[in-house]
Amino acid sequence: MTDTNRPASDTSLPASDNASDNVLVIRDLHVVPIADPTREILAGVDLTVPRGEVHAIMGPNGSGKTTLAYALMGHPAYKVTQGQVTWKGRDILPLSPDKRARLGIFLAFQYPTAIPGLSVASFLRTALNARMRGLEGASEYDPSDPARGGITMGQFRKLMREKMTLLKLDDAFAARYVNEGFSGGEKKRLEMLQMAILQPELAILDETDSGLDIDALRIVAEGVNAQLNPGMGVLLITHYQRLLNYITPDYVHVLARGRILESGGRDLALRLEEEGYGPILREAGYEGFVSDEAPEPEPAAH
Ligand SMILES: Nc1ncnc2c1ncn2[C@@H]1O[C@H](COP(=O)(O)OP(=O)(O)OP(=O)(O)O)[C@@H](O)[C@H]1O
Ligand SMILES: [Mg+2]
Repeated sequence: MTDTNRPASDTSLPASDNASDNVLVIRDLHVVPIADPTREILAGVDLTVPRGEVHAIMGPNGSGKTTLAYALMGHPAYKVTQGQVTWKGRDILPLSPDKRARLGIFLAFQYPTAIPGLSVASFLRTALNARMRGLEGASEYDPSDPARGGITMGQFRKLMREKMTLLKLDDAFAARYVNEGFSGGEKKRLEMLQMAILQPELAILDETDSGLDIDALRIVAEGVNAQLNPGMGVLLITHYQRLLNYITPDYVHVLARGRILESGGRDLALRLEEEGYGPILREAGYEGFVSDEAPEPEPAAH
């Protein structure tokens, strides 16, 4: 813990003389669900994501990808039983989800939930205010006063309109209730709109591609690409490699059996598409495991 008392306003600064400020470090992470604490879903995950890089996490159904995203965000249904997670040089595991969000971490949900009665615009403004207040909740902060760290209603509307245009969302979207009656594609676009407005420094995108038709996939991917910048690290969780045709990862990691079994470049995703997860699992010593996506295993060569 090197910077516990850093002022909240520093959270938007990518550059730092302390290298650990620019990186997410996951070491030997073990996670169990509270509902079934004897079952270890993550069994020693090691991963480092510096700002400015896109790291794709791929893995079969049920391998723990969403659990990893939730554990990083501090979801109350999961317990970290071992290991460390540091972001900006500080231990984030004791922090509540909202504090992690104020440190610039953002999670786009695989299955976003509806909030009837709360409009998209109010939701986003509240979220942005919380984010801008920063972790230490500076007492001089005033959400509507730009001179005191805030943003005026007019500025907010302009920002929202600009980001909605980027994601090809029409104006009526802002007045609708959060995710209520949204199609799968609209839900994903709202996740991307949140990201565009909150401008996170660490974005965890969980299956941003699922439920999207090809045009919506392109719009979402363009929206993400437009937001990539040297101050933001991205953990891109995806089941299929098709999203990676649109968002080019710097690294690809295979999560299976609770661990990162293999890491590589873009070519690893292409290999997975061709071979499924079977060969990597076998190489890691998990004989006989056939993923739901893997082609039939070839007979072992003796
Ligand atoms: N709250 C929970 N209680 C009990 N078991 C859970 C809980 N959350 C996850 N699991 C189990 O942990 C395993 C990993 O689930 P997780 O959702 O992390 O997988 P995933 O890799 O995201 O899968 P998918 O590709 O289908 O999204 C699954 O077998 C799941 O049933
Ligand atoms: Mg999942």
